[in-house]
Amino acid sequence: MNLSAVSSLKMRKNAELLVIPFWKGKKRSAEMANDPNSFKELLASPLATGDFHGNEGELLIHYVSGQSEPRIALLGLGLEEGITSEKLRKAYAQVTKLCLSKEIVDINLLLPQCKLMAKEDLVRAVVDGLLLVNYTFHTLKQATRKANDASSTLNKIVLIGAGAPELEIAKKCAILCESVNMVRDLVNGNADDVTPQHLIAVALGLAKTTKQIKTTVFDKKRLEKEKMGLLLAVNRGSHRDPALIIVEYRGNSKSSDHTILVGKGITFDTGGLNLKAGTGMNDMKSDMGGAATVLGVIHAAAELGLKVNVTGVIAATENSIDAKSYKPGDVYTGYAGKSVEISDTDAEGRLVLADAIAYSAAKLKPSRIIDIATLTGAIEVALGNDISGLFSNNDALADSLIRLGYETGEKVWRMPLHEDYRDSLKSDFADMKSTGGRPGSAIKAALFLQDFVGQVPWVHLDIAGTAFIGEARRYFPKHATGVGVRLLVALLESF
Ligand code: BES
Ligand code: MN
Ligand code: ZN
Repeated sequence: MNLSAVSSLKMRKNAELLVIPFWKGKKRSAEMANDPNSFKELLASPLATGDFHGNEGELLIHYVSGQSEPRIALLGLGLEEGITSEKLRKAYAQVTKLCLSKEIVDINLLLPQCKLMAKEDLVRAVVDGLLLVNYTFHTLKQATRKANDASSTLNKIVLIGAGAPELEIAKKCAILCESVNMVRDLVNGNADDVTPQHLIAVALGLAKTTKQIKTTVFDKKRLEKEKMGLLLAVNRGSHRDPALIIVEYRGNSKSSDHTILVGKGITFDTGGLNLKAGTGMNDMKSDMGGAATVLGVIHAAAELGLKVNVTGVIAATENSIDAKSYKPGDVYTGYAGKSVEISDTDAEGRLVLADAIAYSAAKLKPSRIIDIATLTGAIEVALGNDISGLFSNNDALADSLIRLGYETGEKVWRMPLHEDYRDSLKSDFADMKSTGGRPGSAIKAALFLQDFVGQVPWVHLDIAGTAFIGEARRYFPKHATGVGVRLLVALLESF
């Protein structure tokens, strides 16, 4: 992405489109949100029609001659008094959608002026809105393969009315969005391409880019030696080996503060012998969304040079079906030494996470553990596709993430770790059962995980409803969203 800044409209060069922001006016009019005296004549006729009111996300294209651009897009931002980052992100996402539909790759964009918002927040929201939807996944289409060209997404933006500090903010946003897109590519990719072995390759690749990253891979033999019997149980039905992938980023060697991010890396979830029915399996290539997000956060932390220590721990395997598959009713024991009766082979995520969390707590000296996982269909039923579920044993950590969720637009809602539901995880044969029935099953999954964290401050993010969506929403394109990257990077930056 080529981002640059000029101070005024006069300084701009040729582009395919000029974007001019408008506040919604009193009555049915609209007012230019910066430099209101420019273009008075040029825009007089479209504004006189009364077709454009400056409503949030409203767009009107005006074709002109004699300007640096052949088209001007009038973009509505709603009432100035009601402006928020979220509204700006949504409005500017409309600009990118317009560009994608017309294959416009090069734009001039006049920034709005707003007394009610800090300029840095404004620039961040505008650029996030533009860049977050600036994504297509066409690598599996014949035309794209032939053209050997990723796609015709927006690739040049000139911010008009910005200086060096704003440009720096914009460039940071672009780095973050690249990490988000890396996550999307992994999640949208074929399950037979994005295997545990592929996740290993990506993690090893990250370590090649900087000395601050070190990647360690536990192969099947090592997992057996470490007695990670739950991850191994889930892997039994797969012809691909499992792995525990540990990616350490050390951005602050003087500090002992250390965040661990644990990601669910089920590269395809058939449900196992409790096979998923009907269309329930269709999107299950996305069941490694948590793992991809962890890789995306480490990538962003390194690219942004964050002065923090963060380790990603990814539990990777397919949950496949085979004569060797682990069986409902059988009992397996994992790293923590607790035996678990497998009450449903489709509840595989909590098993692989349990081994990763228990190992992290015991061996990696965490200040806090945050796991992120497409864990339960129930969380999607409860919170829909815009809001992820958050469970935590630590109010301060939970509150930070809730606040940052609103700031980044990657919203989270805290769910209860209701102790009385723990009874449902009692087993006649083992120390615990893996599932406790349908009612409140997102909560029961979280309670199961909590058994493996001990006293470490911990957050569980259930992104089953938000990581992969059937329709584009807000500034997220359809399918893989990459949620969690911007939220968790914001959390790391807050330390
Ligand atoms: N990967 C699924 C959860 C999921 C469902 C993610 C829909 C994305 C969209 C998980 O492994 C699963 O199958 N969970 C079961 C748990 C149940 C057996 C207790 C579920 O939610 O139905
Ligand atoms: Mn499952
Ligand atoms: Zn799953």
